[in-house]
Amino acid sequence: MLKVGIIGVGSMGTQHFLRLMNKIHGATVTAVSDINEAHAKEVIAPYPTVRFIADPITLINDPEVDAVVIVSIDSTHEEYCLEAIKCGKYIFCEKPLSASAEGAKKVVDAEIAGGKRLIQMGFNRRFDPAYEELKALVVSGKLGAPLVAHCAHRNANYPAQYDDVVAVTGTAIHEIDTMAWLVGDYFTKAQVIFPKCSRHSKNENLHDPQIVMLTTSSGMVISCEIWVNCQYAYDIRCEVLCEDGTATLPRPSRVDVCTNQTHYKGMTTDGLGYFAEAYDREFQAWADACNAGTYCKAAASAWDGYCAAVTTDSCLKSQKSGAIEAVPLTDRPDFYID
Ligand SMILES: NC(=O)c1ccc[n+]([C@@H]2O[C@H](COP(=O)([O-])OP(=O)(O)OC[C@H]3O[C@@H](n4cnc5c(N)ncnc54)[C@H](O)[C@@H]3O)[C@@H](O)[C@H]2O)c1
Repeated sequence: MLKVGIIGVGSMGTQHFLRLMNKIHGATVTAVSDINEAHAKEVIAPYPTVRFIADPITLINDPEVDAVVIVSIDSTHEEYCLEAIKCGKYIFCEKPLSASAEGAKKVVDAEIAGGKRLIQMGFNRRFDPAYEELKALVVSGKLGAPLVAHCAHRNANYPAQYDDVVAVTGTAIHEIDTMAWLVGDYFTKAQVIFPKCSRHSKNENLHDPQIVMLTTSSGMVISCEIWVNCQYAYDIRCEVLCEDGTATLPRPSRVDVCTNQTHYKGMTTDGLGYFAEAYDREFQAWADACNAGTYCKAAASAWDGYCAAVTTDSCLKSQKSGAIEAVPLTDRPDFYID
């Protein structure tokens, strides 16, 4: 049984805690850490076997913790990854790997120096059945080579502190990793375009919506619309244009309603619920891999986390310059080739 310590039990961390306690086979949570002690103690209260450890570094070093889930705020991931690597413990790190490409590189370098792949990144869409189906079709070549993709990432409403930086490092980063994985390529250029801003943007430092344009090394162009106050629902879209046809991400199946001369399908505002199956599957794959003493090949590695961070850094640069910015990625080291 894999003994897991979780750092951060906010909205995502609490879901991961409950998932590990109730759904995932072969893993259990033994300890939790969070700077909000009162809230963390409330979360673990129904589970008397789980200890609260105030200091995350102490939790990582605890002998009753074999593996660490890092789901605290973005700025903390790098430090906790580095400590867990030092301890030789398996790591599930929510995105991003670090708040900067430079920080992400430090984590990659430490993992390589340690000689063992320990990190699985929380890029959950790689475990979503709809994305898996879309990727399988695209890589099969049945539709010819992919040329263009259009993606949309829409949330109904975001809190006022959400700004242009988080639009890229918190939201667009999902499309960045997913599309690199889906088409098996990496990005060489990035640009962020600001259309007319919605009156629903709550922060003067948030252009909403915004369009992230990415070019891959093979010349494919990918547009990612990031719109976090779209008002109507959580909505994820992806269409890939190939030489001989197009392939579109299936929408989740919903009840078809006819009422009052109107015909509609319901939607949700709950992004975590929308991808619940993908989260369950990524954690089961992680626990299985850790218990087998290895890493999950289907999951994103620390290198993928680094590539995403380099790409988001270029997007942030473009938000300021308005220009197309280079994405300075180097070849994948042998250590990260499966
Ligand atoms: N993969 C996904 O789909 C997905 C979705 C949502 C969030 N996330 C990621 O999960 C992480 C948490 O997001 P959230 O929405 O739960 O945020 P949140 O603000 O709800 O929770 C963050 C938690 O971390 C705690 N915390 C803050 N600083 C800490 C520190 N130094 N040490 C320990 N705990 C600390 C906070 O008290 C809080 O409980 C973020 O990195 C976010 O990017 C990923």
